[in-house]
Amino acid sequence: MGNLTVKMTDTQGVVHSFDSVEEGTSLMELGKQNGVSGIMGDCGGGCACATCHVYVDQSWWDKVGAPDEIEYAMLDMVADVMQDTSRLGCQIKMKSELDGIEVVVAPASSY
Ligand code: FES
Repeated sequence: MGNLTVKMTDTQGVVHSFDSVEEGTSLMELGKQNGVSGIMGDCGGGCACATCHVYVDQSWWDKVGAPDEIEYAMLDMVADVMQDTSRLGCQIKMKSELDGIEVVVAPASSY
């Protein structure tokens, strides 16, 4: 068991607080394993489905950083629900610098 904390608000507005997240766990895995609504992770973390789309809290954006080109292209497929701090949850792996991160699960795209 790890000791990193994550706060994840699901698509129903329910806030899930995790306090024993292991380093290396992606936000998609964390959400999926814990039944967080709105996190599907259909492609298994391959950056190929965007069903793990989250909005990173603005205050964490600098630490998380912008998506790379491949991830951005995938986010563009869900551009109708994309925001400035959109990232794919499977591409954010927990590490000590991200301890305490807050994200909101994005609603499904209507594309
Ligand atoms: S799980 Fe498919 S893009 Fe993240």
